[in-house]
Amino acid sequence: MKLSEREIIGQGFRYPIELHEDFQGLSEKLNSLPKVSKVYVLTSREIAGIYEKYITKELSSLNVPFSFIYLKPGEKNKHIDRVKKVYNQLIETDADRKAVVIAFGGGVVGDFAGFIAATYQRGVRFVQVPTTLLACVDSSVGGKVAVNVDSGKNMVGAFYQPEFVFAPLFTLSTLPEKEWSCGLAEIAKHAFLDGGDFLDKISKSKRSDFSANSPILRYAIEESVRVKSGIVSQDEKETGLRAVLNLGHTTGHAIESLTQYKKYSHGEAVAVGLVTALLLSRELVGFSESNFQRAITLMKQLELPTRLEEKPDEILKHMEHDKKKEGTSLKFVLLEDFGKPKFGVSVERKNIFEILKRQKGKL
Ligand code: NAD
Ligand code: GLY
Repeated sequence: MKLSEREIIGQGFRYPIELHEDFQGLSEKLNSLPKVSKVYVLTSREIAGIYEKYITKELSSLNVPFSFIYLKPGEKNKHIDRVKKVYNQLIETDADRKAVVIAFGGGVVGDFAGFIAATYQRGVRFVQVPTTLLACVDSSVGGKVAVNVDSGKNMVGAFYQPEFVFAPLFTLSTLPEKEWSCGLAEIAKHAFLDGGDFLDKISKSKRSDFSANSPILRYAIEESVRVKSGIVSQDEKETGLRAVLNLGHTTGHAIESLTQYKKYSHGEAVAVGLVTALLLSRELVGFSESNFQRAITLMKQLELPTRLEEKPDEILKHMEHDKKKEGTSLKFVLLEDFGKPKFGVSVERKNIFEILKRQKGKL
């Protein structure tokens, strides 16, 4: 059953982002796409292990054949080295330009399958069927697709929008606790960027209120999609405004790469990075003490990590590998107020170091 729908409209693209209870209706939507030759479901064995039988039942109503291509799970397999094998599988099964790729999984599958779709035969259509909270609120929306190379994450990719996003929310019922943190961190980020009723309502919730079929979860996904769509509609290719979606990511990426993508999931690292951005915002651009306390309280209610456990100088070293480096300063997204982000703020190395030191203590 369809629960809600929002449309994202940008320059040269327009597509719906639909929240559904389960897979019912997916075939009907695929059947409505013009001239489809075959549907390929790109997913991981982990996800297929739980949900293949359900999606297969739904896809049996398709007007065209479909088959599965299994990807190895995990960030390390969202890698350029894995791409060739999938191209070969498509070629060997005569996939033509009228084929449609379904990215069925979390952000790793979404980014990888989207990259395949963007590049196979110069681009075939694709559909996002997100199964993690992070993918529902963030990675399935907005058309960033990418793979990693040995020297860095998401270094090769494209802006390539799906035909539609179809989120079957019942799949979130099997999501591990750590993965809830990832999605909740991105929800907190969107609420800080938006302010207003979204932040007010989320602030009244605690982590245990969020479950696969809770009203607050659905509300938070709908609002996150509204916030992200509103930004992407204005600046698909991140020439400016879209950068605000990187709130918390400068420290987040540094933590992930320093700990070799093992200790923290993406969202947990972003949560710690959000706190760095909040501390810097209070110090440098007038974000008030009461706003700061409110943001930290919300993150604690959501049971997100806030304290920095790594050494500040090592975090700084990893930040400096980041493309945002500029002389003795680094670029950050900061908040003047809730709903009032500022991107491209140059922050001196010594200020970052002091803030990171503070973040190691009690907040
Ligand atoms: P993920 O895709 O690795 O999924 C996390 C884990 O949960 C995996 O082990 C997966 O197999 C498992 N899983 C997925 N759905 C499940 C379900 N319903 N039940 C049980 N287990 C399930 O991680 P993620 O957090 O979804 O995505 C992270 C990736 O997203 C990163 O590569 C990041 O760079 C990318 N990302 C992209 C964008 C974008 O705009 N394109 C935005 C944010 C993050
Ligand atoms: N996740 C950041 C973006 O989509 O721009």
